[in-house]
Parts: sequence; C-alpha cells; structure tokens
Amino acid sequence: MAHELLCIGLLTLDVVARPVDTLPAGEGTTLIEGLAVAPAGTAGGAALVAAKLGLDVGLAAVVGDDLSGRFVRLALEEEGVDCALVRVRPGRRTSATVLPIDSLGRRPTLHAPGAGFLADASDEVVTAACSARFVHYGGVGGPKLDGGPGAALLARARAAGAVVTCDLIAPGSGALDELRRLLPHVDVFMPSAAEAFALSGASTPEAAAAFFHALGAGGVIIKLGGEGCYVDVAGAPERLPAHDITVVDTTSCGDSFCAGFIAGLARGMPPVQAARLGSAVAAQVAQGLATLGALEGYAASVRLMESLTAGETAQ
Ligand SMILES: Nc1ncnc2c1ncn2[C@@H]1O[C@H](COP(=O)(O)OP(=O)(O)OP(=O)(O)O)[C@@H](O)[C@H]1O
Ligand SMILES: [Mg+2]
Repeated sequence: MAHELLCIGLLTLDVVARPVDTLPAGEGTTLIEGLAVAPAGTAGGAALVAAKLGLDVGLAAVVGDDLSGRFVRLALEEEGVDCALVRVRPGRRTSATVLPIDSLGRRPTLHAPGAGFLADASDEVVTAACSARFVHYGGVGGPKLDGGPGAALLARARAAGAVVTCDLIAPGSGALDELRRLLPHVDVFMPSAAEAFALSGASTPEAAAAFFHALGAGGVIIKLGGEGCYVDVAGAPERLPAHDITVVDTTSCGDSFCAGFIAGLARGMPPVQAARLGSAVAAQVAQGLATLGALEGYAASVRLMESLTAGETAQ
C-alpha cells in the first residue's frame, strides 16, 4: 500500500477534439483529425502521467456514480495507478471537460462540474500520505480539503517524511487564504505563470516566486508555457527553455510537467535536472492529444531531456 507517489485532489474526464475552428452550422457535421478521452485534473492527470513514467502511484480522488467514472477508473488502472482510494459518490456525476482544440493549439474549455473536487482527508488518505515518498496535492479549492483539512494532511505527510508538491487549477477567491495554510507544508509549489501572477500580483516569475517563498513554500517552479519554466528550488534560481516542438494539444502540460519533475526527483535527480525532465515529459504530451499525448515513457523522456540539455537550442 505504500506508494512512491500519492496524488490527492481533482479528478476529471477530459474529452479532447482537434481541430475545431468553428462549430458546424445548425446540425451539420465536420470531420476532424482526432478525438481522445482520458482521466485528467490536477491530481488525476499527474497520477496518470507519473504511472506512465514508471512510478508506483496511488490516487485519492472522487468520481461520480456513472459510466464516465467507471471509464476514468479503468483508464487509470490500465496505466497501473492504484485506485483503492478513488471513491464513488452516489447520486453525483463525474466531473468532465470538453476541449475543442483549434488549429493553433488554443484550448477553450467547457466544464461540467461533478464529484471531481470532493476528495477528503479521511483516515485512509492520511495513512497513505504518511507512507508515500512523494505527495502531490491538487486539492486547492476542494470543499472537503480547504479551510484546514488539506493543510493538516500535508503537515502529517511531511512529518512522516514525504516530499510534498502542489499544483492548482483555476484558483478562486479563497485560494490565497488556502495557500497561506498549505504552503508552509509544501516543498515545491508549481503554479502556472497566469495563476502565479494573478495570486501574487507580481508580474515577473522572480517576484512571484519570492511571494510564495514568503508564504512558506520551500521551493517554487513557475510554469511558463511555451517559454519554459522558472525554477527556484534549493539553489540558484534558473530559467529553463521549453522544447522546440510542433504543438498538437497542450492539454495537461502542467500536470505532466509536475509528474515528470516528481519522477526525476524520485529517480535521484537534483531539482533543476528534474525540472528539465518535467519539460521533456510535457513536450511529449503536447505532441499528441489529451493527458498522455505522445508520451512514450521514462527512457524516451530522459533522451529528449538530454538532447535539449546538450544543445540548449530553444530560445
Ligand atoms: N507550446 C509549448 N511548447 C513546448 N513546451 C510547452 C509548450 N506549452 C507548455 N509546454 C511545457 O509544459 C510546461 C507546463 O505548461 P504550462 O506552463 O502551460 O502549464 P499549466 O498552465 O499549468 O498547464 P495546464 O493548463 O495543463 O495546467 C511548460 O513549462 C513547458 O515545459
Ligand atoms: Mg496548471
């Protein structure tokens, strides 16, 4: 039951279609290149990608009592994610998102909320978090975790020896207060630039990282999309380039970056190198549809990482 990585928080079903530049008029039909369905969410997406990278992963999350929920569980289990702590919420549907990706790779989202944010800090989840090497927290905004239970869970996990990472999505008005509670128990906080700037009021990665350090985060990585990332974790801060790729779909690039970073740490890489691995994993994910995209696995990600480290061609 002790996992290398336990992910806690948001779990959704993503339905990704590409390219969708305009909707067919009336009840018309347009043929498109591809459509994919996959588990996603700050916890679910990271768990799926980490398992694909070979980590032993558990997921604490909630699905609805419907076919989508059963599909999400099946897809996670096919990649080897332990779903013993994925609970079914009777009478609720599974959270789901439709993403019509346009030819430029932009991704408007249509989200139908459901049970996906109802993860809690039950005794079983706390026990699993306390025995994991890494705990990835994607529960900011979750009604059963915010306001104290999530922070208490992370404090317990960290005291038991886990390395705690945290990512968030679409932070609401209460997110900053929640981060004040959470970040003192977080080793590496990994928001996107848009999230980091909105929450901190800063306009540079350096200033945003300083803001989150002041709230208690041990390390901060700001994800900068096609511009790469800013890494300020135990040592001199560094800005890393993104891979120069032809983007198909950037859905879950952020979650896959987090999974790649954790996989790097788990395999003994120092933080900056682990962030390079995160970038390589995200670059593979962005070259195909949905959560796993064109990701092959750990060895291919390391090869891609080394190709950029050697040349540093991007930017
Ligand atoms: N266009 C791109 N080209 C190359 N790499 C990219 C591109 N977009 C994203 N990435 C890689 O993915 C990482 C994470 O992407 P991004 O900054 O968009 O995260 P995010 O906003 O948290 O994403 P998400 O919406 O999935 O949560 C980047 O740091 C980069 O390494
Ligand atoms: Mg994100």
